[in-house]
Amino acid sequence: MKENILLSLANEFGTPLVVVDHDIIRQNYLEFKKHLPKVQAYYAVKANPEPEIVNTLFKIGSSFDVASMPEFNLVYENIKDFPEKERQNFIWDKIIYANPIKPKKTLQLLDKYKPLVTFDNKVELHKIKKYAPNAGVVLRLRVPNTGSMVELSSKFGCDAAQAVDLILEAFNIGLVVEGISFHVGSQCANFENYIQAINIAYAVMKESEERGYKIRILDIGGGFPAPYDRHVRPFSELAYMINVEIERLFPNDIQIIAEPGRFLVATAATSISRIIGKTVRDGKICYYIDDSVYHTFSGIIFDHCRYTLKAMKEGKTEICAVFGKTCDGLDTISLAEELPDLELDDFVYSENIGAYSTASATYFNGFPPAKIVHINV
Ligand SMILES: Cc1ncc(COP(=O)(O)O)c(C=O)c1O
Repeated sequence: MKENILLSLANEFGTPLVVVDHDIIRQNYLEFKKHLPKVQAYYAVKANPEPEIVNTLFKIGSSFDVASMPEFNLVYENIKDFPEKERQNFIWDKIIYANPIKPKKTLQLLDKYKPLVTFDNKVELHKIKKYAPNAGVVLRLRVPNTGSMVELSSKFGCDAAQAVDLILEAFNIGLVVEGISFHVGSQCANFENYIQAINIAYAVMKESEERGYKIRILDIGGGFPAPYDRHVRPFSELAYMINVEIERLFPNDIQIIAEPGRFLVATAATSISRIIGKTVRDGKICYYIDDSVYHTFSGIIFDHCRYTLKAMKEGKTEICAVFGKTCDGLDTISLAEELPDLELDDFVYSENIGAYSTASATYFNGFPPAKIVHINV
């Protein structure tokens, strides 16, 4: 995002501010589709649940992965005025409730839509049967997450060895297993994870078919890495590997879906803050900004993500520390940032902060989350 645009928005709306550029969201979606033409993208709303983002992706043809009833309602908002049949078709074809653990109440509310929901254990399966008997189910497998920035495999996914038994049990109790899913871990830099996961899913689907139950959907999850720095290999390389493996293993009539979150939104947002304090500690310059790890920079804690801060001023740079505005020592944005000499009220900004950032911002210390401005909507 150009500095002059950021500067004028910061002057107009004040700081802390987050600017979301919808042209970039559309570009990311089209890039995803270009390189994975056979894969339907279900945007993982959790990455950034701003209604404007959901609406932009809705308009460009995205499907949606939701993790809760409020996220389902966010997507529903876009289709609520559709005629009933069209609305129902959208829910069937374009929404997956991909949180493997669901409150009973949520299942009860969802049942009338005959939703697609994931599960990875027996208790959940029977809960679904009891409270949402009209749901279609997708079994989430445990797959290698090695080398991903955020690992999910210790919390979710059934082992391949138990998968077929769970599938048989689902059919036995009258549910239909529509698909197999996995998640290789978020910001997956190790592309081999996808290849191994696709092969594990293939083996499970093959055995299930041999037992008389053909499964029609392969859900390759999220994890597609955002280009935070030059070490991240290009998406086209990953997509090529995925396409080759799918082509090699699966018949043409398999339906392939994915749940990209970060990839679609990370590069679309930039945060802008002001310097509100400055001191020298142990010989190092320390800046305090008017945002924090409890707010836009929450990804530092929850997402294990690092963000680079840039100044809008030229000058000789030196290593300094940058802290957030709250009273907590944990509120450390960086202990080694390279910035020029800055004064109170100077601006700093961080690019690529659209995923798992404002989504997990709090009101800690009484400070509300940053204002969010949408451009090129
Ligand atoms: C079930 C599920 N699907 C999709 C995603 C989105 O992953 P990513 O943002 O890495 O693409 C997540 C993230 O936690 C998830 O838990």
